[in-house]
Amino acid sequence: MMYLVPLAKSPHGADFSPDGRYVVGNGKLAPYVTVFDFQKFLKAAEASDTTGSEDGIPVLRYESIRVAEVPVGLGPLHTQFDDQGYAYTSLFIESAVAKWKMGPFDGHDSSLVVAKIPVHYSVGHLVVAGGDTRHPVGRYLVSMNKLSKGRHLNVGPSQPESSQLIDITGSGMKMIYEAYTEPEPHFAQIIKADLIHPIEVYPKAENKDPNAIWAAADGKVTRIGNRVEVKLFSIRSYFAPGEIDAQEGDSVIIHVTNAEQERDMLHGFGLAGYNINVVMDPGETKTIRLKADKPGVWPFYCTNFCSAMHQEMQGYLLVKPRGAAATVAAK
Ligand code: CUA
Repeated sequence: MMYLVPLAKSPHGADFSPDGRYVVGNGKLAPYVTVFDFQKFLKAAEASDTTGSEDGIPVLRYESIRVAEVPVGLGPLHTQFDDQGYAYTSLFIESAVAKWKMGPFDGHDSSLVVAKIPVHYSVGHLVVAGGDTRHPVGRYLVSMNKLSKGRHLNVGPSQPESSQLIDITGSGMKMIYEAYTEPEPHFAQIIKADLIHPIEVYPKAENKDPNAIWAAADGKVTRIGNRVEVKLFSIRSYFAPGEIDAQEGDSVIIHVTNAEQERDMLHGFGLAGYNINVVMDPGETKTIRLKADKPGVWPFYCTNFCSAMHQEMQGYLLVKPRGAAATVAAK
């Protein structure tokens, strides 16, 4: 079931070529990547062509399965592939990306490296468009950052990090764009835009929430004992009802529906005194539960910019103090 394969010290990424034939082993502490032939791997396994075992797992003979040691540079971590027969390896120590040819592997390994481009941080992961698929798209590569090396203005202990977009068409590489990123992004994918078909809104007809409402007139507050249940309507640019009355100690349940069926028309429901803030996508209903344990007049408001009247999209939760009614009556 399992075999070990010798590799340079501190192995990092292991990456299959798009045709499934080769595995590139990136050994962090070696100045080269090792290319294994998966066919040879299977043959060696079948013939028990091993050089001992570790923890009971047979170790395949390195020389029988390795087809090349390509001297890409210092600190190889990950390798990606394009549609032109090139591979791209990130070089952590060297802060560069190497471009090299996937064969022919005939013992002249150093001639396989065709280009190298410096990046401005210690590079970790990298991605070529479609580089993890059987049919890479090529054209672009994004090099991602592991450690910032003072690339940007110092704005505090947590430093800005970078990723860089590299044009890989032709035989060389050219940096064309740089963007800020989160610290140490662990991989990414680039796919063709025409493969993405997301919905733009949640269709009203598919909203099965029994508490969804689609007209302001259906917004209402119902009290049963000390439980206050609200059906709240939201649309540009108001909530209905605009006022929710509760008594201190009540359980309040708010079902808020964003009745929009327009692209990008999100609304929010924020209730600052109760530390509540949710976003409703177009056509979506969300339920908020709270214990009305803080008396007062608490504004709720839309927290997602929706129109010129966005800031007017608000209402109030009134929480009357315990015994308030009796006090008023007595007075
Ligand atoms: Cu709704 Cu802002």
